Amino acid sequence: MSTASHGDEAHQATLIRGDGIGPEVTEAALQVLEAAGVRMAWDEVEAGAEVVQKYGSPMPDRALDSIRRHRVALKGPIGTPVGGGFRSANVSLRQSLDLFASVRPVQNVPGVPCRYEGVDLVVVRENTEGLYSGLEHRVAPGIVESLKIVTEHASLRIARYAFELAQREGRPEVCAVHKANILKLSDGLFLECAQRVARDFPDIRYTEIIIDNCAMQLVKDPTRFSVLLLENLYGDILSDLCAGLVGGLGVVPGANIGEGCAVFEAVHGSAPDIAGKRVANPTAVILSSVMMLRHLGEQDAADAIETAVHAALVEPENRTRDIGGHADLDGITRAIVERL
Ligand code: NAI
Repeated sequence: MSTASHGDEAHQATLIRGDGIGPEVTEAALQVLEAAGVRMAWDEVEAGAEVVQKYGSPMPDRALDSIRRHRVALKGPIGTPVGGGFRSANVSLRQSLDLFASVRPVQNVPGVPCRYEGVDLVVVRENTEGLYSGLEHRVAPGIVESLKIVTEHASLRIARYAFELAQREGRPEVCAVHKANILKLSDGLFLECAQRVARDFPDIRYTEIIIDNCAMQLVKDPTRFSVLLLENLYGDILSDLCAGLVGGLGVVPGANIGEGCAVFEAVHGSAPDIAGKRVANPTAVILSSVMMLRHLGEQDAADAIETAVHAALVEPENRTRDIGGHADLDGITRAIVERL
């Protein structure tokens, strides 16, 4: 699919619509990108539960190859069965393409009601190892073992990414979140690596906090944090907590960044409870496409879409149910498109 535009050449990128609410919210993002005059040449690929039978995997090679080729993707959420079933398509994607940094900016969105003002932090989550390495086995009946893998290489790399992001965005502090009082070796190595990288950035304050205290401090006063540096599982959990601080999963975007490729997707999952009802909030995936445009150097279009999203959400009648309104998916999408 290509869209008309003022630009020179269309950007080649992979499109994965995902499942559950994925197809609905990504379609809304495509409409918004088109209204902003961005030229995209999408290579649309299948992924998710429905293709497991056909390709033997929820993240087929065809999808991975497309992203390797185009280096940029916009992705809707993909569900993963609980307990048994196939391995997470999202984890496979991040590990196969070495998308080592999950980056989730958490900021107040004008007009979106929430308990806090002045929230402006970025969650930087290690995306390839930890307990998500998929190394689990039954030791004996009634006993299972899951291995948490922490490497110096991945820990140094994610710490450097967090500090470079802080430097680029003028952020004053990087706070490493850990449980090294209990997990002395694994989280201990993660912290040691963060400390080593911190020495190269003397202008950025480096702090450490134990994860349970961090959860409490975030709920008490999220404005005290600027960049949170976390291993995989802690980052997954605190990302949703942080989304709740600014209005919920419907409004927080994200990116998975590697050396070669970047995949942009909302923090939220496939929300099967509301799939197909056209009540999902597309803001998170639209703001993820704004992050994608900035990555592609389309600053003007990114700014225009962000401004339109904010202008639409300031009007209570355009807010979806998850953020206290009555609008449906089509209503909020139309309101954003009209403002472009
Ligand atoms: P979820 O994020 O899908 O939903 C949690 C709650 O937030 C639900 O009540 C849902 O209705 C609501 N919600 C989420 N996004 C929303 C939106 N855009 N607008 C309005 N409400 C929204 O998390 P859940 O239920 O734990 O997971 C569902 C499935 O998604 C699981 O199979 C999980 O594995 C998968 N998942 C996929 C992710 C991805 O593809 N990156 C990320 C997280 C979960």
